[in-house]
Amino acid sequence: MALVLRGVLLLALCSLTAHGSDFQLGSKYSGQPAGFDRRPNAGARAASVARRSLPAWLAASPQHRITRRSTEQGDSCNSMQGYEAKLEGNTHRYLFKDLSGSVSLAWVGDGSGVILALTTFQVPFFMLKIGQSRLYRSEDYGKSFEDVTDLINSTFIRSEFGIAISPDNSGKVILTGELSGDRGPKIFLSKDFGENFSPKTLPFEPNSQITYNPENSNVLVALSNSNELWLSEDFGTSWKMLYSLVCLVKWGKNNAIFFSVYYNESSCSDRGTLVLMKTTDYGKTIKTIRKKIYSFGLGGRFLFASVMKDKSTLRAIHVSIDQGETWNIAQLPAVGHEQFYSILSANDEMVFMHVDEPGDTGFGTVYASDDRGTVYSKSLERHLYTSTGGDTDFTNVTSLRGVFITSILAQDNSVQSVVSFDQGGEWVPLRKPVDSKCDSTSMDPDKCSLHIHAAYSIAMKLNVPVLPLTEPNAVGLIIAHGSVGDSVSVMNPDVYVSDDGGYSWIKALEGPHHYAILDSGGLLVAVEHKPNQPIDIVKFSTDEGQCWRQYNFTSVPIFFTGLASEPGALSMNVSIWGYRDSLLSQYWISITIDFKELLTRDCGDEDYVQWLAHSDDLSDPTNGCMLGYKEKFQRLKKDSVCFNGRDYKVINQPTPCTCTFDDFMCDFGYYRQENSSQCIEQPDLEGKDLEFCLHGNEEQLVTSGYRKIPGDKCEGGKTPTRKVVPLRQKCVSDLLDTQETVSSSKSVFIVIVVIIVLLMSIVAGVLFVKKYVCGGRLVCLFLIQTE
Ligand SMILES: *[C@@H]1O[C@H](CO)[C@@H](O)[C@H](O)[C@H]1NC(C)=O
Ligand SMILES: *[C@@H]1O[C@H](CO)[C@@H](O)[C@H](O)[C@H]1NC(C)=O
Ligand SMILES: *[C@@H]1O[C@H](CO)[C@@H](O)[C@H](O)[C@H]1NC(C)=O
Ligand SMILES: *[C@@H]1O[C@H](CO)[C@@H](O)[C@H](O)[C@H]1NC(C)=O
Ligand SMILES: *[C@@H]1O[C@H](CO)[C@@H](O)[C@H](O)[C@H]1NC(C)=O
Ligand SMILES: *[C@@H]1O[C@H](CO)[C@@H](O)[C@H](O)[C@H]1NC(C)=O
Repeated sequence: MALVLRGVLLLALCSLTAHGSDFQLGSKYSGQPAGFDRRPNAGARAASVARRSLPAWLAASPQHRITRRSTEQGDSCNSMQGYEAKLEGNTHRYLFKDLSGSVSLAWVGDGSGVILALTTFQVPFFMLKIGQSRLYRSEDYGKSFEDVTDLINSTFIRSEFGIAISPDNSGKVILTGELSGDRGPKIFLSKDFGENFSPKTLPFEPNSQITYNPENSNVLVALSNSNELWLSEDFGTSWKMLYSLVCLVKWGKNNAIFFSVYYNESSCSDRGTLVLMKTTDYGKTIKTIRKKIYSFGLGGRFLFASVMKDKSTLRAIHVSIDQGETWNIAQLPAVGHEQFYSILSANDEMVFMHVDEPGDTGFGTVYASDDRGTVYSKSLERHLYTSTGGDTDFTNVTSLRGVFITSILAQDNSVQSVVSFDQGGEWVPLRKPVDSKCDSTSMDPDKCSLHIHAAYSIAMKLNVPVLPLTEPNAVGLIIAHGSVGDSVSVMNPDVYVSDDGGYSWIKALEGPHHYAILDSGGLLVAVEHKPNQPIDIVKFSTDEGQCWRQYNFTSVPIFFTGLASEPGALSMNVSIWGYRDSLLSQYWISITIDFKELLTRDCGDEDYVQWLAHSDDLSDPTNGCMLGYKEKFQRLKKDSVCFNGRDYKVINQPTPCTCTFDDFMCDFGYYRQENSSQCIEQPDLEGKDLEFCLHGNEEQLVTSGYRKIPGDKCEGGKTPTRKVVPLRQKCVSDLLDTQETVSSSKSVFIVIVVIIVLLMSIVAGVLFVKKYVCGGRLVCLFLIQTE
């Protein structure tokens, strides 16, 4: 039986990117690369991920753990009475007198309750596409809508560009219409949460969504279909062209705009010949900051560019932490044209970088950077990441600091989930849920682990409707689809919940579901995923998924398409979107349930309990230490049925831990010997060219051999001795070389370079997601097929 999700499948999908097998890593990377290892024996640890047995501490019985369950499980299941009547009085149905098609929903503002719903309907008509859009607006979290289509004068809105909402919650909205005659398309601009829209004809035809300056939402940029970069400083009223021959544009910090440009008579696909430019004064001065680039990306405070090496088809990553003024070469393997780099996750302190393996393997290596983005330690090998779909399971568990979940491709080509609790220092299998049995993918019926379905499973069209869900204000909580065995199973997944950031899990729901987190984790809502079957039941839990109740929300079942609640998990209102089929047509329906009355009272002090994050062994004084500090949180007791409210703030008391060698990584030119925590100077450093160079042409590298791991806040304890090592003029000439060489056109097979994977918490309720449009405060719902 083919129960195991195998990576083999992706080989068939990846045929586009073939031609990689002859690629060899540069000889400088054979042997022990300087500074690569962050922890003693890191290589062996990474390999241990594929090990079948669990580490002792994970397999240990759970009684050491602090439990927040002040009563036995199941008690709270009995105590809630008459909830159906309370919910029935707070269920609001809205029928859209609308044709089928697709709906995009966008929340405008934070806590304003304003939702815009844009329905679009398109049918091919001979060579043309006939489309129709309708715009609806709600001011009460979706309980009722008003048809405001006249605000856009019945113009067809390009739904693939979505609804552009300003990131600062100031209530600005941009809708992009279809082309109007020979002039550019019409856009509709609102500054008042969509109450009024003013039309404006663009002097160009945009090729993607207009983007806001994150620091000033009056300033917009757009790329045109003819590769021109356009800018508006007055929220779309007037536009000026900044530059032509532009391939890619991104906003940086402090009003910086970065863009890549191709040479005349060349094109954007001529990778490796592009030029990276920057302006910080909206185009008055434009500066070239890097030549011969392949692509560029931003993550946290880091600016990355992959730059062609001289006289070779390899490229290397250059990194800048001052917006492109000075550059360093990142100490990462160079890659050839069929490989790619990807920023998996980044903040101002560090970045996780995926480096694709040569050849068409579907996996690569994850590296964790230091605080300058230059020195990298190997974090995880055989990391699953297909090059065509760009699918990786890498997930930042935003509900607990330092926790990440992803998948590896094991030696037998099966896909397996791993978790890191210390920001990539060590990866281990997920512990088997106590209430689950190992499935048939496991060799030993008692020893197996939990595997999480994420982006890869969805790309492989398994029956997984949504990604794992975490929210920063729902501390420790993770909801995800998974299976229990030796590897990810292709059979129907179930829903699992962790309340401690991924250390322990329970099986919460049988079969695939859509789910949402409300009231900062105090309430979970789920709807069973049954394609093509009408539904009438919504499930909810007030105790983090232990006990679920059912509520029959409609007398006439609907075809369910998605769950939608305001991003940020502060809301108590959730909308169930779907449609009904009548004899003549299908029409949209949205059913909004307000749970406020269910949780009758506000939470008081007695409803919360202290919880030490990352604690697994209370006898250990360093218990709970993560990157140099412990955090105690005030968390809701499981059996407290009360209302956290919109003003709820996560209360957390951090206390520093004393430093150990584990709080340091080896600096450049140093490495750790197996089983030793000390950083030793690389003996073969002398007389060799360095792959890496601090501050370009600086002549000295001042280092103690140790560097604190980015974000580590330990105090006292181990303070590694400081040494000053002159590195003379070893910096590579690569960096100073600005001479242009036009590379041959071997780059036909190039697919991706630095992809910035915005691991935004994709809002619940997404069925067909266009990655570049939906997410954040915008949810796109489904397509109903009309014949
Ligand atoms: C609406 O569209 C009609 C016909 O296309 C046009 O005459 C009218 O000026 C438009 N009104 C606005 C406010 O754009
Ligand atoms: C590109 O070349 C054409 C003709 O060779 C010239 O007219 C045009 O101005 C050039 N464009 C730029 C941006 O240099
Ligand atoms: C992970 O998510 C948390 C919470 O949103 C954020 O603070 C942190 O910077 C993220 N870490 C990385 C490496 O992206
Ligand atoms: C939900 O209620 C309707 C009548 O209001 C009933 O016909 C239907 O069977 C109920 N569904 C379930 C699953 O109980
Ligand atoms: C739910 O919606 C109502 C408006 O219908 C609003 O007053 C209330 O604040 C919302 N609840 C939350 C927690 O957002
Ligand atoms: C490192 O430790 C492991 C287990 O403790 C041992 O098997 C291995 O031989 C040690 N390696 C060295 C080089 O001492």
